[in-house]
Amino acid sequence: MRALSDRTANFTDSVIRRMTRIANQYGAVNLSQGFPDFDPPKEITDRLAEIASVGPHQYALTWGAQNFREALARKQEHFFGMKVNPDTEIVVTCGSTEAMMASMMSVTNPGDKVAIFSPFYENYGADTILSGAEPIYIPLVPPEFTFDKVVLEQAFKDGAKALVLCNPSNPCGKVFTYEEMQTIAEIIIKYDAYVITDEVYEHIIYEPHKHVYMATLPGMRERTIICNSLSKTYSVTGWRLGYVMAAPEIIDRVKKVHDFLTVGAAAPLMEAAVVGLEFEDAYYKELQAHYTHMKELFVGGLKELGFTITEPQGAYYVLLDVSEFGVKDDVAFCEWMAEHVGVAAVPGSSFFREDVHHLVRFHFAKKDETLKEALKRLADLRIKANSAQNVVWR
Ligand SMILES: Cc1ncc(COP(=O)(O)O)c(C=O)c1O
Repeated sequence: MRALSDRTANFTDSVIRRMTRIANQYGAVNLSQGFPDFDPPKEITDRLAEIASVGPHQYALTWGAQNFREALARKQEHFFGMKVNPDTEIVVTCGSTEAMMASMMSVTNPGDKVAIFSPFYENYGADTILSGAEPIYIPLVPPEFTFDKVVLEQAFKDGAKALVLCNPSNPCGKVFTYEEMQTIAEIIIKYDAYVITDEVYEHIIYEPHKHVYMATLPGMRERTIICNSLSKTYSVTGWRLGYVMAAPEIIDRVKKVHDFLTVGAAAPLMEAAVVGLEFEDAYYKELQAHYTHMKELFVGGLKELGFTITEPQGAYYVLLDVSEFGVKDDVAFCEWMAEHVGVAAVPGSSFFREDVHHLVRFHFAKKDETLKEALKRLADLRIKANSAQNVVWR
């Protein structure tokens, strides 16, 4: 038989989604793959129930139902203070996942270079490979996850055409400051490049941090391709509703890529989600308060247990430092932890380009009882890890 594609030959299955399967196998509390175990807002699910009998059930417009795009434009204008044209500046996609892929394919030619901050959400590496582009990784240096301007600029001197900016960041919880965004913008403009943002956690921010939209910086509107979704903001990760927002010339191209990739997002789900996009500010304040509560419960609990963690500024993940246990292989450690401690996490090495094996990532978008059960089990982690014999992770 002839060989399958070279491009995908080295793909492994997603470590994040594999950890979910391992969690199920051992009955572990699954704090690996980031999805809530609480319900979406009732207004949205009630509307979905109505739509089941009245539709729409057939294809929507390829670039998204008109009322959904209009509601998206109104919401975005409200939060970012700039006009968005729902007809020429938005494409609705199947999650931010497709938004990133369609954007990357619209911006790059095979052989182009794309700068990516490391640690990074694992899909970005695959997106560049599938587009035929070559990633250049820029370290975000722990514990503050700061970047070196000179290193970033070097990537563009070396020909990078675009930067992927995940803000707030998964997995490290970094929220880029206005000054950092300005530094990035200066470089992007100087080298005539683009920024592809992933802003799925825009509303999950912990005081005193603030989300800054790259597109609002001077000169950046026409160079920023915003990828976002409803997954995290409305707790509907399974609905697969995302979008790209950008200047009309870019959107024109993304529309074509999207049309051939997926044809369109689910029509009944778009219709049901419009009520969410129309929520008042109070909804987003409550969301922030709810996540602040979950962070205090879980991250605070880890600190009380005496663990070393990185304090998240946004998103819903925390990195736990497991170097005290002599971990050399964090993948094997996470598998062992799921089986013997009963809590599933994602090995940090799946996010870092650098040689980092001493961090594991938990997510905390969970009900209080789930987080309390995880903390109860993690209270035994130190004793179990220190007394574990003949383990492959050490
Ligand atoms: C940074 C980031 N981007 C994108 C996604 C996936 O988003 P979506 O469900 O909209 O495809 C995730 C999911 O965990 C994520 O953490």
